[in-house]
Amino acid sequence: MNIIVKKNADEVSKEGANIFIEEINKKPNIVLCLATGSTPQGLYKELIKANKNNEVNFKRVKSFNLDNYIGLEKNDINNYDYYMREKLFNHINIDKENWLVPFVNEENYETYCKEYDQLLEESGIDLLLLGIGENGHIAFNEPSDKFSVGTHIVDLDEKTRKANSRFFDSIEDVPKQAITMGIGSIMKAKKIVLLAIGEKKKEVIKKLLSAEKIDPQFPASILLAHRDVTIITEEALYDKN
Ligand code: PGA
Repeated sequence: MNIIVKKNADEVSKEGANIFIEEINKKPNIVLCLATGSTPQGLYKELIKANKNNEVNFKRVKSFNLDNYIGLEKNDINNYDYYMREKLFNHINIDKENWLVPFVNEENYETYCKEYDQLLEESGIDLLLLGIGENGHIAFNEPSDKFSVGTHIVDLDEKTRKANSRFFDSIEDVPKQAITMGIGSIMKAKKIVLLAIGEKKKEVIKKLLSAEKIDPQFPASILLAHRDVTIITEEALYDKN
């Protein structure tokens, strides 16, 4: 794992955005997989700025997303389809038909997961963005007895619901389930960039950087087995010891 330590959160976002800009410029029809939550918002602002300054072109870029809640309408402010439109896609020159955020309802989830996997398989992810949960989850792959392979429905960990309740009126409003890409699909991405910012991530980053074995109870540890992972974090979270 390649570790980059920056002075503060803004610098982490800029560094992450620079990797995205460089990779898109190298391969204009790149396939991305993007993340939601607090962490990537600064990076998305940098991408919007770069697109407006003609430093990067999204015309031929294709994009998937890691996960989404179940039970929220597409225009609910906490639905990740809405998030991606608001935070990025409405502000860059990406084609509407070139991005897809997973979205299921109770009736169609089995076929939907299969279809999403098929699309991921056909496209192949070149560059995938990750945040990390305080419990070590990546996407919504929560600590578990075994690693998942493909897209599936998960029961959200109470820790995750609590951490994400800051976006909702109350914890009762946080959905109990989500759809997420599997660990297997994440590991197939050619290049992975994981950003970690904010004091709350200090413990989990320490655990990840000192992990010696891969353990499904600590999902992010799977990244030890990937050939091209870059972790970008801020000085305050980085404990060399
Ligand atoms: P956050 O979420 O960026 O909102 O901290 C990250 C995650 O839970 O994966």
